[in-house]
Amino acid sequence: MLKVENLRAGYGKVDVLHGISLEVNAGECVALVGANGAGKSTTLKCICGINEIRAGTIEFEGQRIDGLPGHSIVRRGITMCPEGRQVFAEMSVLENLEMGAHTRSDNKQRSDLEEMMDMFPVLRARSRQSAGTLSGGEQEMLAIARALMSRPKLCIFDEPSLGLAPKIVEEVEQTIARIKAMGTTILLVEQNASMALRLSDRAYVFEAGEIVLHGTGRELQDHPEVSKAYLGY
Ligand SMILES: Nc1ncnc2c1ncn2[C@@H]1O[C@H](COP(=O)(O)OP(=O)(O)OP(=O)(O)O)[C@@H](O)[C@H]1O
Ligand SMILES: [Mg+2]
Repeated sequence: MLKVENLRAGYGKVDVLHGISLEVNAGECVALVGANGAGKSTTLKCICGINEIRAGTIEFEGQRIDGLPGHSIVRRGITMCPEGRQVFAEMSVLENLEMGAHTRSDNKQRSDLEEMMDMFPVLRARSRQSAGTLSGGEQEMLAIARALMSRPKLCIFDEPSLGLAPKIVEEVEQTIARIKAMGTTILLVEQNASMALRLSDRAYVFEAGEIVLHGTGRELQDHPEVSKAYLGY
């Protein structure tokens, strides 16, 4: 579904990605793990058209998407749930959800809105409240629901568990598992490597802008270097 080949990107004079190649097949959950600053978020931003690429190609469903503006990438079916949630703080929960659907031209937004409220009852209870006043965990649920409102084929998560209490992290993990079970393809970046490897069918390990390892979630969980560096045992 998604094919990234020899992707190079950077900021100013600094090259950050030195030729990343990865694939995501339809229905899979693929994780990117690796240390801070390794280039995971940069990779995601290139896929979503937020960052420019310097070399390489990005294909989605057999067509090049590198160079396209962000909104047309969303229209093709890729949506990101960004690092740090980035909900529209001044807008209500409901308005945030409506924003998630703004690239759609069908008339199912109402029923999808209801579906999101059923999936995340806390959002129904808080629908008129401004998003900035939600707790961190509630904001994460809103960010996820807002992403789903675009009906993505590929949903990208950047550090969904960041800064959340363990109980909420568990909830986020269950939510992502549910989204996968609904048939959405997932690309997940997660500092919590054990969660990422539990959820993912396959994973890539990033180190300083390169992919140094890849395998199934299970293989990487059992890999001595991965467990030592990222799983803490
Ligand atoms: N807007 C920017 N301008 C300049 N340099 C940047 C910018 N964003 C990221 N970088 C640099 O690019 C490198 C890769 O950053 P990136 O955010 O992709 O890493 P990451 O793997 O997502 O890390 P983390 O796990 O901390 O989120 C880092 O050295 C970072 O300082
Ligand atoms: Mg990051």
